[in-house]
Amino acid sequence: MLDLVIRGAKVFCEGELRELEIAVRDGKIVKLARAVPHEQAEVEVNARGLVALPGGIDVHVHFRDPGHTHKESWYTGSCAAAAGGITTVIDQPNTTPPTVDGRSFKKKLRRARRLSIVDFGINGGVVEDNMEKLDVLAHAGVMAFGEIFMGESTNARALEMEVLKAALEEIARLGLPACVHAEDMRTIERCEPEARGDQTMYHMLARPPAAEARAVMDVVNIARSIGGLRLHICHVSTRDGVGMVRNAKYIGMRASCEVTPHHLLLSEVHAQRLGSRAKVNPPLRSEEHVRALWAALRSGTIDVLASDHAPHTLAEKEQHVFDAPSGLPGVETLLPLMLMCVRENRLSLHRLVDALCTRPASLFGIEGKGRIALGYDADIALFDMKRPEKIDAEVLHSKAGWSPFEGMEAVFPMLTVSRGEVVFDRIRNEDVVGEKGRGRWVIPGGCGDGAQYGDGDGAQ
Ligand code: DOR
Ligand code: ZN
Repeated sequence: MLDLVIRGAKVFCEGELRELEIAVRDGKIVKLARAVPHEQAEVEVNARGLVALPGGIDVHVHFRDPGHTHKESWYTGSCAAAAGGITTVIDQPNTTPPTVDGRSFKKKLRRARRLSIVDFGINGGVVEDNMEKLDVLAHAGVMAFGEIFMGESTNARALEMEVLKAALEEIARLGLPACVHAEDMRTIERCEPEARGDQTMYHMLARPPAAEARAVMDVVNIARSIGGLRLHICHVSTRDGVGMVRNAKYIGMRASCEVTPHHLLLSEVHAQRLGSRAKVNPPLRSEEHVRALWAALRSGTIDVLASDHAPHTLAEKEQHVFDAPSGLPGVETLLPLMLMCVRENRLSLHRLVDALCTRPASLFGIEGKGRIALGYDADIALFDMKRPEKIDAEVLHSKAGWSPFEGMEAVFPMLTVSRGEVVFDRIRNEDVVGEKGRGRWVIPGGCGDGAQYGDGDGAQ
């Protein structure tokens, strides 16, 4: 008996769309064929006219749980992910408490296990005084270290260069990726006071492109001197930032980077309209930078698409621009917006799936995910490419309750399947149907269920 059969879809498999039927047992894809013999299946999905893609892996979300659950929780964040075709997320450590030692890691893991409806990895944070905890975190099962803040951001202080260097040496030894938020604090400190004279442009002037360029250069140089570090630059936003990652790759370093939909699809022009809502680190940039990001995404210099889902409520965002917190929600709109770009021939479907599924899995060592292939987890999202819809925050699932992309067109999933279970269903008009706590913990190289730091031990 099969658990699930999907019939009639065009399936993205081995780099192209093919008419295949997908059979699932025990959460895994067990058959992929023109016609799966009519074995009994618990759930049959008629997907005629739909495209089946691997569920997305969003390597950069801030689900705010524990500590700021009025902004988001593991439940609401994971519902938003499922409704956007994302079946695996990696959560960042700037929660309260921050995920910087065994105890805080366990606390977050417990919350995620109880509430998440999609699979999840948890990153470990780096702060001034947790250097001796990094190996505890690595053994606990963090996916990576980061977001490591070179510039201060929401609920996160900037690291001193000396601390950063020591941390990267240790992370290189531990063999995990270091995900770095690259904005240079000294440049920000120099630009900020003057920027206060221009309220509309304030945030963009306070954190100029040069802050990113400087920080990427510094961290690439540190990584180079260490050797062997898996350096991942979070949300690149500038031409020079991308250029330095390109150079680092060229000289053979293990460097990668990600870009967000907001840096690709919004710019300074939108920022003027959105006011303090558009405040985000790194800031929205000019068209010149947006063009460079697109070119780098198409060529693969930018490896990964990620949302940097950073929800804050409207009341928080609509404070004076000096006081509003930085960050934009985006986990639910990430894949739908980028699929719209595929529809408009701005990006190939092949590159999209690579940037949102295959590459994240290989960069972070997520086994058995990121492809529709035999033996892989049945993480699948179905889309009607002929049905773009206007983004309407009213129907999105994040607690943020608003979207910087309001009114833009996107292709949302009709059905999302996580390890063979339907978690979001618009074919039958049911919306989110995944059960709280069904999401599994993912660790580098496998599933965290049997890992040492499961419930019940005394990790400090
Ligand atoms: O704008 C941002 N918000 N950038 C970050 O790096 C952090 C994030 C947040 O957590 O709100
Ligand atoms: Zn971030």
